[in-house]
Amino acid sequence: MRYIIVSNRLPVTVSRRKGQFTTKKSVGGLATGVSAVFENSEGIWIGWPGMASDTLSMDDREELEMLLRRDGFEPVFLSSRDIAGYYHGYSNKTLWPLFHYFANYTVFSDSEMWKRYVDVNRKFAKKIIALYRDGDIIWVHDYHLFLVPQMVRKEIPDATIGFFLHIPFPSYEVFRLLPERKELLEGVLGADLIGFHTYDYVRHFLSSVRRIVGIEHHMGRLWVGKRQIKASAFPMGIDTDRFIKLAQSSSVQKKIENYRKKLHGRKLVLSIDRLDYSKGIDLRLKAIERFFDKYPKMREKVVFALIVVPSRSQVETYQDMKERIDKLVGQINGKYGGWGVIPIWYMYKSFPQEDLVPLYALADVALITPIRDGMNLVAKEYIAVKQGESGMLVLSEMAGAAAELGEAVLVNPMDTDGVADAIYEALTMSIEEKRERMGKMFERVKKWNVHRWAEDFVERLEGIKDYHRQFAGKILTGKAKKQLKDAFISARKRVLLLDYDGTLTKIVRRPEYAKPDKEIKDILKRLSDKAEVVIVSGRDRKTLDQWFGDLPVSFVAEHGAWIKHKGKDWNTLIAIPSDWKNDIRPIMELYADRTAGAFVEEKEHAIAWHYRMALPEHAQVMAAELKEVLMSLISGKDLEIIDGNKVIEVRVAGINKGIASSRFIEDADFILAAGDDWTDEDMFEAMPEHAWTIKVGPKPSKAKWIVEDVDEMRSLLNELSTLDMTK
Ligand code: UDP
Ligand code: G6P
Repeated sequence: MRYIIVSNRLPVTVSRRKGQFTTKKSVGGLATGVSAVFENSEGIWIGWPGMASDTLSMDDREELEMLLRRDGFEPVFLSSRDIAGYYHGYSNKTLWPLFHYFANYTVFSDSEMWKRYVDVNRKFAKKIIALYRDGDIIWVHDYHLFLVPQMVRKEIPDATIGFFLHIPFPSYEVFRLLPERKELLEGVLGADLIGFHTYDYVRHFLSSVRRIVGIEHHMGRLWVGKRQIKASAFPMGIDTDRFIKLAQSSSVQKKIENYRKKLHGRKLVLSIDRLDYSKGIDLRLKAIERFFDKYPKMREKVVFALIVVPSRSQVETYQDMKERIDKLVGQINGKYGGWGVIPIWYMYKSFPQEDLVPLYALADVALITPIRDGMNLVAKEYIAVKQGESGMLVLSEMAGAAAELGEAVLVNPMDTDGVADAIYEALTMSIEEKRERMGKMFERVKKWNVHRWAEDFVERLEGIKDYHRQFAGKILTGKAKKQLKDAFISARKRVLLLDYDGTLTKIVRRPEYAKPDKEIKDILKRLSDKAEVVIVSGRDRKTLDQWFGDLPVSFVAEHGAWIKHKGKDWNTLIAIPSDWKNDIRPIMELYADRTAGAFVEEKEHAIAWHYRMALPEHAQVMAAELKEVLMSLISGKDLEIIDGNKVIEVRVAGINKGIASSRFIEDADFILAAGDDWTDEDMFEAMPEHAWTIKVGPKPSKAKWIVEDVDEMRSLLNELSTLDMTK
């Protein structure tokens, strides 16, 4: 098994010094985290080397390719225009701010930026397609490449593709502001598995997919055309053992001693971030100022080390941020500094991780207060280095990591007083309490490390592919279809049990709009010359009579409450009066009034609450509530609740499509039963072994076969209806 890792940035960034290419490790959680996985597996990593290709000659490119390939890296070359439009532009001026809830920093509707984004995504997809070998696992990372999964899927339909988003996925209310929202979602839905750091992000994603693309999910599983895909949370970890080993190494120990001397007995509070407005560095500085104000005795006892790593400095919002931070640091140092006392040690540069470890080891407190952060690995690295022995973490509730590090002193980064108090609390906490809290977090960081993260993701991805393979075997194609037709021709008695809505006709917004068209009526008519045709429906008998009364067919109505043999009268299988509906109707009507778009449909032996046209999220809450109310109402009565496809129905218990349709199959040596929703499952279950049970739509089912959609079902029936039976 070979990985193809794909991300905007390679784990190394290339630059040219005195005509020579040099590489430097890239910073950021994606590069550091995924590198740990990559180093331990066979694979290639496709990404941008960090330089503009216009500055490179053909020879340069070849040289660079050779240099990078030695480590398994495959460069995607981007021109200055690509970089401006795709990277600085759509990725970092549109997606990044909006996904971190900075709508005011977001640039919308810049068509050049979007065009470049699409073009560069295509470049990445082409590279993957060129390098792909059968059996590879393609793992695409982050917001720069939302469109890549679908682009690859189009060319390699059965490829195994995973996608992981390293930043938050915002709530639907925010995501929907994007003019390109649909294209982005459709792009990522090309993957088999879509991973996020937290369940909140998964929830937001699924709600956007439902509202924007119109695809429902069931426990994170979605049907995209023929494929079932999954969205789930995989909180990313760090290479914990590596950090523990580094902390114990003699070179790090030496550095610790050196730094310790510089502290002169003062306590150290450490922050490490890329320079990004999402990291809340300016707010943190205000909280530090407040801390010195509120706790004057601390002024000479504490040093704040603020490591700020240069990032995306060509984007104006980042430049403004830098100016604000420089100014604030100057102000605070001016206000609270003294001879030999500098309250904030401010470093605007990046360090290799080996040099961060001694700082983690020395820090009495790590102060990590982003306004929004997908995960935040620095918090976990600090916990790993401390190994539960000392230190304390002050962590923003808005970081993905807070979902796993609940023993930290959690803060709201907007609450300046709260953060100032949290710093004080962390600095003055008893050693016992620190050990207990840090110990618990350490165990978790150790267990859920980055290797486990990758294993879990890939295992789940392979599980989905296995499912696809099993599924593919059930699709009624060439050979099986021919067998079905042969069996149809050679049988003595043929029965076709056909559900109507979703099987013979597409689901529409209101049930009454689904009137049969001429094509299906002609097919049914021709079929009824060759077989007994039974429409097995949840609809009432009046509708069935009106729509199909002119055809020589039989019926099951109201999910089995009524049956009618061809040319005979209706017969009910239920012997109880229907006055129970008087108790149920008012409740359903009340809920319909409270849910715009929902309505009540009354049948003879059932009463149904439809909510297909209501706003999905609100309707789901109302449906759950209604179900509960109904449950208490029907207890002790011979009634049951059916939770159908956007409909909640109460009906007389003990009847179903299985029991009713069994009445038609006696002596039949050819049986075809087709249906699309779960009420048809009773019918599939009641059929004998030799029956052809067919599910319409690629969903799990007891049926033996699957056809993709209503059109395919119709075309199958049409073929049967026009078969030459004399052969
Ligand atoms: N990092 C680094 N050198 C630095 C600062 C940070 O190597 O000078 C690494 C740090 O160890 C961590 C990553 O960069 O692994 C930052 O990841 P995080 O998830 O905290 O934030 P991101 O930058 O991805 O938003
Ligand atoms: C975040 C993103 C990464 C990105 C990193 C550094 O962690 O999720 O995709 O690589 O920041 O940003 P940069 O723009 O320098 O790649």
